[in-house]
Amino acid sequence: MRNVELKARDPDPARSLERALALGADDRGEIAQRDTYFAAARGRLKLREQEAGGSPLWDELIGYSRVDSSEPGTSNYLRVPVADAAPLREALDAAYGTLVTVTKRRRVLLWENVRIHLDEVEGLGSYLELEGVADPGSDLSAEHDRVELVRRELGIEDQDLVTGSYSDLLMSASDHLMRAADEVMRTAYAPYSHFPVGVALRAPDGSIHVGSNVENASYPQGQCAETSAIGALIAAGHTRIAEVAVTAELMDICPPCGGCRQRLAEFASPDTRVHLGRPDGPRETTTVGELLPLAFELDPPA
Ligand code: THU
Repeated sequence: MRNVELKARDPDPARSLERALALGADDRGEIAQRDTYFAAARGRLKLREQEAGGSPLWDELIGYSRVDSSEPGTSNYLRVPVADAAPLREALDAAYGTLVTVTKRRRVLLWENVRIHLDEVEGLGSYLELEGVADPGSDLSAEHDRVELVRRELGIEDQDLVTGSYSDLLMSASDHLMRAADEVMRTAYAPYSHFPVGVALRAPDGSIHVGSNVENASYPQGQCAETSAIGALIAAGHTRIAEVAVTAELMDICPPCGGCRQRLAEFASPDTRVHLGRPDGPRETTTVGELLPLAFELDPPA
């Protein structure tokens, strides 16, 4: 298959949906997709698991042999239907390691042969994709024209256009998150332990909230960087954490303390990624669920 593709941040997904429907696009509904990218030695290997309305759709393993070409129609990929995705994911993770997981809700609309994807990507925010599926033997000019028309109708601005896949965006986003943690670490008030820590949290809309540790003369009563960052996230009006980065000046990998694991779990999901490390040094990515298995939960009284 050859596509003419365009990807952009979407500042107003409700407006995009309204405009796509006004254009006469056919609404194919919403799917939940999880793409797990493995650290393959060559090309790119991802497992796509998807469901619609709570029921599983087909899952597939997708291997790309050429990934970085910007020319349309030159990426080579192989799709393999998968009957039992969960054990395959575990086996590939054990063999290769997981690079990044992209979780999104995708609303699919179709206008002429242009697929319109309204995507809510966990940890990145709202994006939209246009894919003009090319007719066999086409010189792609008709597909370019149709994609351009949809782009105009949806009001996609130049400044919102992005290149690169969601996995690339997420990987550079986690790098960015680690740098934000490192930056705020410099504000730590740690005269008693001399152990500065910085934490950056990403909210589901992509915004970043930071905090450092704050000590006092009654040293055990100090506040961890995680706690400070959670306070900043809540003060900004958020109640969910999509991604975490923790860095400490004097420790390559600084795992959150027990209390902070519970604090993070309050606002995160078991599969929320937690990056531990240094911006230009070692890095380990774990999850809130791995840090706090069998988490204590209590439904607040009504
Ligand atoms: N600390 C954090 O801020 N986060 C962690 O994940 C571990 C420990 C702080 C608490 C105290 O101010 C200092 O590091 C030494 O324990």
